Amino acid sequence: KTTAFSGAAIGKGNYRHFMEKELHEHPAVIGDTLRQYVDPATRAVSRPALPFDPATLPRLWLSGCGSAFIVCQTARYWFETIARLPCDADVASELRYRDPPMTGGGAAMFVSQSGETADNLAAMKLLRTGGQSIVSVVNVPESTMSRESDATLMTVAGPEISVASTKAFTAQLSVMACLALNFARARGAIDAEEEARLTTALLEVPEHAARLLDASAEIEALAEDIKGARDVLYLGRGSMFPIALEGALKLKELSYIHAEGYAAGEMKHGPIALIDDSVPVISLCPSGPLFEKTASNLQEAAARGGRIIAFTDEDGAQALRRFASRVVVLPKVDPFVAPILHAIPVQMLAYHVAVLKGTDVDQPRNLAKAVTVE
Ligand code: G6P
Repeated sequence: KTTAFSGAAIGKGNYRHFMEKELHEHPAVIGDTLRQYVDPATRAVSRPALPFDPATLPRLWLSGCGSAFIVCQTARYWFETIARLPCDADVASELRYRDPPMTGGGAAMFVSQSGETADNLAAMKLLRTGGQSIVSVVNVPESTMSRESDATLMTVAGPEISVASTKAFTAQLSVMACLALNFARARGAIDAEEEARLTTALLEVPEHAARLLDASAEIEALAEDIKGARDVLYLGRGSMFPIALEGALKLKELSYIHAEGYAAGEMKHGPIALIDDSVPVISLCPSGPLFEKTASNLQEAAARGGRIIAFTDEDGAQALRRFASRVVVLPKVDPFVAPILHAIPVQMLAYHVAVLKGTDVDQPRNLAKAVTVE
């Protein structure tokens, strides 16, 4: 099967790699995607017709592979906490064989850049057989997944050529964040004022993202620190936990450094045994309700000689500077949108480490852009 976009026809412009170009497209892509859903005047979220009523939906399934699965995991926090909607996030290659009991009347969303990933297509068939409404969130309108769905929600990321997903990831997060708000209103879980406050936070993300991309010198310096590591741990809590997974996934696939993403509270159940001064511990720790908990996990790692690198905001920086070897200060945003913003520097870090190591950034060994066979 051919993909809809050809790298040769698109060009890298003045960038060294497609990945660098695509990282710089984050602000535009997030903005374009949000504009499809948010009315800038009322700050309310609208959406295309769906084959179910979110107000009465009993359960939502989310399925994806690779970075798209990480989007599902992030979205699950939003659907549960903001929309009060019972929600599962599954990796498609497991879901397709798990044979979970299903009650008809639920809905399933399949997240995919290409819309062609074999495991996700198989999971889609299983959930359709189980009586769920099928929605795809894809970047390629004419894709198989879109054709096989009851409804399609488009990400507006444009062609993504680099094998590792970047801008499609933040576009997918943007769609899911809008849906969570729209469902939350439909279910009476938030009022119009709260919806407007949270969409305002979303609409500010592109500008913050542009500022992050302009300040890449700090990330490049950090990449110098990381490039010699054999293992790297990424930690986060709540909706920042999936972003820790994204950081680790990107680092391992691009630079071939072993990296693991962990829920910060799980560190004491295993990974803390690895900690010494040769293992960088990268934490995604914006201020917010879970800040103190994550900070205390990091302090435990620091007490065991761990080299703590923290991504946080101005409000979190002071506390973390007491024991972290590096603190990267990102713009302060509502905790709701923090995962979207934090995804950008962790992807940039993986990019710069890969460049320093001289790996094939756009075509990492053994990986494919779309995995259309099992
Ligand atoms: C491959 C790519 C990843 C992507 C995953 C899922 O592994 O290298 O970047 O996240 O497939 O692809 P999809 O097209 O379904 O989003």
